[in-house]
Amino acid sequence: MVVSIIAALLMQQVPEENVDWDKEFGVEERVRDPETGEFPVDPYTQSNDNAGAKPFSSDSLAREFGEQEGIRRIADRLVEVSKEDPRISEIFVSHDMVRLKRTLFEQFCYILNAGCDYTGRDMKTAHTDMGLRKADLNALVENLQFVMREQGIAFAAQNRLLSKLAPMSYDLIER
Ligand code: HEM
Repeated sequence: MVVSIIAALLMQQVPEENVDWDKEFGVEERVRDPETGEFPVDPYTQSNDNAGAKPFSSDSLAREFGEQEGIRRIADRLVEVSKEDPRISEIFVSHDMVRLKRTLFEQFCYILNAGCDYTGRDMKTAHTDMGLRKADLNALVENLQFVMREQGIAFAAQNRLLSKLAPMSYDLIER
């Protein structure tokens, strides 16, 4: 009798087969868009105002940055270098680098008046709850300077882009 009660109790502990554990734990599978290769993000209103800075009125800087092709190289390299930078690499883990490269390119292209619209999120929303520190921003800016030097951008032109990005720090740094 005792043995069969214990056996019955033990059987109750055995989980059912075919349980959808992802569903039980509320795990959502993220699927990349087959065309863009990007993960979907929560809905937001698209606007060039989200870029966080007004564009330069002249297109001379766009030329100094090598037009859209040169700007894309800088955005791509900035993401690659930052992803490998031990000071900040962990912050990029599990974020969508395909989307980041595209939106960063659009943002720089828009600000440099090289003929793009910015379709990403505003800086505060995009970086919320990342717990970014001043040191993280310094590291990213150093990487951007490194990449611009690497791509042969004149020092004065580098500084003009940086002057547009600097005021964004208020929306980025959380601690
Ligand atoms: C002036 C400095 C910065 C600019 C201009 C900038 C620009 C951007 C842009 C355009 C996006 C994409 C927005 C979107 O997905 O809609 C983004 C997202 C992101 N940024 Fe920054 N960023 C800056 C600083 C930083 C720093 C300091 C870090 C970390 C060290 C960082 C890490 C990230 C990450 C991980 C994402 C992906 C967010 C997500 O997947 O939801 N950013 N940033």
